Amino acid sequence: MSEATPVDMPKGAQAYSGISKLLHWATAILIFGVLPVGFLLEDLPKGYIQNLGYDLHRSFGFVILCLAALRILVRLVFGAPAAYAGLTPFERRASAFAHHALYILLFATPLLGWAATSAYPVSFSIFWLFELPPLVPANRTVSKILFEAHEWAAIAMIAILVAHIGGALVHRIIKRDGVLERMLPARKS
Ligand code: HEM
Ligand code: HEM
Repeated sequence: MSEATPVDMPKGAQAYSGISKLLHWATAILIFGVLPVGFLLEDLPKGYIQNLGYDLHRSFGFVILCLAALRILVRLVFGAPAAYAGLTPFERRASAFAHHALYILLFATPLLGWAATSAYPVSFSIFWLFELPPLVPANRTVSKILFEAHEWAAIAMIAILVAHIGGALVHRIIKRDGVLERMLPARKS
């Protein structure tokens, strides 16, 4: 369900609902933390710091998975605004592809990390509160393959995010239409 169109937003540019915006930006902040920490994990000083890095990476990664599930639920219940009316057919197809791919990767990446960790096998807790059950039985070969897939899913996510964020900036800076504003907090004026 879309909110009322703010006065300063071009026609046909209805905004996302408040809850969708909140979930989008909470996910974005967590992704910008979990992604670089993932690449740094192996190089962190062994011992307390590295263990903390693993614990936080896995815990916040699990939060991202939960937020992705919540976003799908919110979309199913409240819907989402129609594509921005001023998009070219190419932009429409490209953004639909990017959004679908990002949703798939928001599930696939953490699930692969969880499955790979279970197969290693390592038991781990979420913020030292509760343990997650293993997703697959112990098997080092399977774990190695799943960690490779986890890494490739993260790399695919980065590639799509470069286009996604680049696209949002082109709309904001060059085209100066209302696309970015659809996902920004509503301005009171
Ligand atoms: C959206 C969420 C996540 C993202 C974007 C992400 C991203 C990454 C990245 C980029 C790496 C480095 C890959 C490499 O250089 O080999 C990594 C490593 C790792 N991830 Fe994740 N991850 C996420 C969620 C999770 C979850 C939920 C778990 C486990 C429950 C997990 C467990 C691990 C582990 C154990 C490593 C280290 C692998 C190794 O040392 O070979 N990740 N992750
Ligand atoms: C600086 C970072 C980001 C910016 C500027 C940004 C901007 C936007 C904008 C403007 C939209 C709405 C597009 C439209 O109206 O057609 C959007 C939607 C979306 N963004 Fe982002 N985004 C960012 C980061 C991320 C991240 C990190 C993810 C996930 C990994 C993500 C996933 C999505 C998804 C899945 C949608 C589609 C929402 C839906 O229709 O349900 N974004 N983003």
